[in-house]
Amino acid sequence: MGFTMGLNLVLLLAMVATNILSLYHLSTTTLIHSSTPPTATPPPVPDYLIRQLQTIRATISHLTRHHPSTSNPTSSTPTTGIPQDLLLHSRLSPIGSSCHNHPDLLHRYMNYTPFSICPHDPDLQETLILHGCQPLPRRRCFSRTPLKPSSSLPLNPFPSSLPDSNLIWTHYSCKTFSCLNHQNPLLGFDPARESTSSFMAFRSELDLPVPQLLQIAKAANSLIRLGLDVGGATGSFAARMKLYNITVVTTTMNLGAPYSEAAALRGLVPLHVPLQQRLPVFDGVLDLVRCGHAVNRWIPVTMMEFLFFDVDRVLRAGGYLWLDRFFSKRSDLDNVYGPLIGKLGYKKVKWATADKPNSKNGEVYLTALLQKPVSK
Ligand SMILES: *[C@@H]1O[C@H](CO)[C@@H](O)[C@H](O)[C@H]1NC(C)=O
Repeated sequence: MGFTMGLNLVLLLAMVATNILSLYHLSTTTLIHSSTPPTATPPPVPDYLIRQLQTIRATISHLTRHHPSTSNPTSSTPTTGIPQDLLLHSRLSPIGSSCHNHPDLLHRYMNYTPFSICPHDPDLQETLILHGCQPLPRRRCFSRTPLKPSSSLPLNPFPSSLPDSNLIWTHYSCKTFSCLNHQNPLLGFDPARESTSSFMAFRSELDLPVPQLLQIAKAANSLIRLGLDVGGATGSFAARMKLYNITVVTTTMNLGAPYSEAAALRGLVPLHVPLQQRLPVFDGVLDLVRCGHAVNRWIPVTMMEFLFFDVDRVLRAGGYLWLDRFFSKRSDLDNVYGPLIGKLGYKKVKWATADKPNSKNGEVYLTALLQKPVSK
């Protein structure tokens, strides 16, 4: 009884959370896209929003009538088929509502034998994380390790090669780094290839070579020591910065290739964090955040707004946001993304745009270096 009620409550909480979220999203999206001046009367609230609100109110009053049971889930009779750890974690972190939206996946993920070897399910984990189930519940099992890892790891972040034997290749079609390079030399699995040129050359206004970046910061009396690279694949930017004794951590996902492992083999910290997650660092602690190719017009505008505001949260006063080749349609840059970036109120240290080569949709690249104001 305690079980079912607990689970019901969790599901209800999940529903409330998602509804509130979608309401918020819907309302902010409306704000962004509406071009009506603030003095005009607000548009009437659509019926479906009112219906959602009523559902939320009904759910909340339901919840307040039924207070959460205090019985310990592990002490009651187990409901057949529900993994114990799933129930335990539902209780510990009821806010992770996105996990509950994918009970089939979560059920598979939590279906393992405690204290033995975990199922090898990195794809399942990525799928759950990308659906917003982040952080994933912890498990009490041992993750697999490669059979014969090499003990000679490179100290240089641009090694001539990465050791193939240090990761598990079973779920990839390629079984070596050279195979990945062969498939696409631009994915960053050949660090030696980048050793001289990456983040160093100035070929067009869209480039911001690291020496120039550091010069700009120095001239503004703003030291760069700590940074975060959003969606930084195999950590190429962090690798370059390491040569300047600057610490950069990289958020990266293993989308079809072992980006996290490659970054780690270069001696760089890979944070397994999707774009929609709150950055796992405290407010005002970073000198620099770089957003590379991963941050582009494919991200829904509302989510991008949350991302930028989260970047603002983690940057210290005087810190820099570097949008490196952000691509969008030119009209969207003028009407949507430009104003969105403007909301941050940052100083435009650099703002360069250029047509994206061979683009059918009239797309442009933007490279911008923006400095967070010292006081707000
Ligand atoms: C980085 O630190 C090392 C060790 O302290 C030092 O030898 C090197 O000159 C530094 N490099 C730069 C670019 O400051």
